[in-house]
Amino acid sequence: MAFWNEALAFGLAPKPIGPRQESASIQASRARVLTLNRKGFRRCAVSVTQQQVLDSLRQVASPRGVPLPHANVLSAISVTDGKVFFSINVDAAEARAWESVRAQAEAAVRAIPGVTTAMIALTAERKPGSPQTAPQRHAQGVQPASAHRPPQGPSPMSKQAEIPGVAAIIAVASGKGGVGKSTTALNLALGLRDLGLRVGLLDADIYGPSVPRLTGINEKPQLDDNRKMIPIKRFGLSIMSIGFLVEENTAMIWRGPMVMSAITQMLRDVAWGTLDILVVDMPPGTGDAQLTLAQNVPLKGAVIISTPQDLSLIDARRGLAMFKKVNVPVLGIVENMSYFQCPECGTRSDIFGHGGARHEAERLGVPFLGEIPLHMSIRTTSDEGNPVVVSEPDGPHAAIYRAIGASVRDQLQGAIAAA
Ligand SMILES: Nc1ncnc2c1ncn2[C@@H]1O[C@H](COP(=O)(O)OP(=O)(O)O)[C@@H](O)[C@H]1O
Ligand SMILES: [Mg+2]
Repeated sequence: MAFWNEALAFGLAPKPIGPRQESASIQASRARVLTLNRKGFRRCAVSVTQQQVLDSLRQVASPRGVPLPHANVLSAISVTDGKVFFSINVDAAEARAWESVRAQAEAAVRAIPGVTTAMIALTAERKPGSPQTAPQRHAQGVQPASAHRPPQGPSPMSKQAEIPGVAAIIAVASGKGGVGKSTTALNLALGLRDLGLRVGLLDADIYGPSVPRLTGINEKPQLDDNRKMIPIKRFGLSIMSIGFLVEENTAMIWRGPMVMSAITQMLRDVAWGTLDILVVDMPPGTGDAQLTLAQNVPLKGAVIISTPQDLSLIDARRGLAMFKKVNVPVLGIVENMSYFQCPECGTRSDIFGHGGARHEAERLGVPFLGEIPLHMSIRTTSDEGNPVVVSEPDGPHAAIYRAIGASVRDQLQGAIAAA
């Protein structure tokens, strides 16, 4: 809840500053910390140091009574503009006992004057030589938390634990940005809605959240009595996006555990209600953050978006490999911007070459879910916050998204029926 509480208390999210946008003067001023008090007024600069963080952690003891700085469990501590992030890395077998320690550490750090946000992640690691209780599901550089799941399924404490009320969570992913992942995620969610399903959309692309723009939502979610975020309802979908709290064009400085903490909160601290399918618009790419996400979100499957260009297909292959690595079934590949369809006469031109994704899907033995043309109305309706499945429900594009939705639904039928 830390992220929500801070963001809401200030009426804005922590102000992330992207490395690409950072001027020399901004960099220089990062050494100083300007904080906001609870009423949102600036108060004078207070620099927070790593040493202060370590000092505050001395009052928190490990389950065996060792002060945290001496327990050999802390990652590097990141302190930027009053925002403190680090992880506590523990043996998976002791993870339960550590949860309250993590909460105490967060409270201790938050009490340091000048700290505006404290986000502390608990990551569980199998000690070398300890018995393996589940199939190895981790790749190099990723915390193998899921390797410790008991055979009968994840415990409620696990990062893989299901979200109560949500029958199936699926990822919409792409090997790189700009291929139409968000546009497809939203229209696919709407296509699933048209099939009579209760659908949610989680914009987990914290590097470039575009769902607020695509849906025209510019309100901030409220908290319910249990301090959970209430997703915004639009077009019959329950929608949550980090973009409701931060500016779309603000590049995030969050990395590693921070990414996972923010997304965990969006997943688990949101009152999703009862959903048949929750569609997650993933951050593009196949780096560590994406892999960790794919591993820690209880996904029933993934849909990979690609364009016909070769480069994009190479990226798509990486996406496939990533989900395979973490044992998430690939529900199929969608070829977006598959062919150009003239908005005037409807003539089709295969300007990028065509059929690459279908061929690739066949070669890799995963379903091919469909081709979406590059069409002006898909772009303009997206930009207007009025997606094509809503604005042209009887048109050919809506029919394509519904057909892709039907294929996805059929593959998830077991999970949806069981819920
Ligand atoms: N099938 C399509 N036809 C026309 N424009 C599209 C199509 N799919 C996506 N776009 C446009 O391409 C741009 C990138 O799409 P977006 O969904 O934001 O990509 P990503 O999430 O992969 O970065 C947006 O301007 C969007 O409107
Ligand atoms: Mg996007």
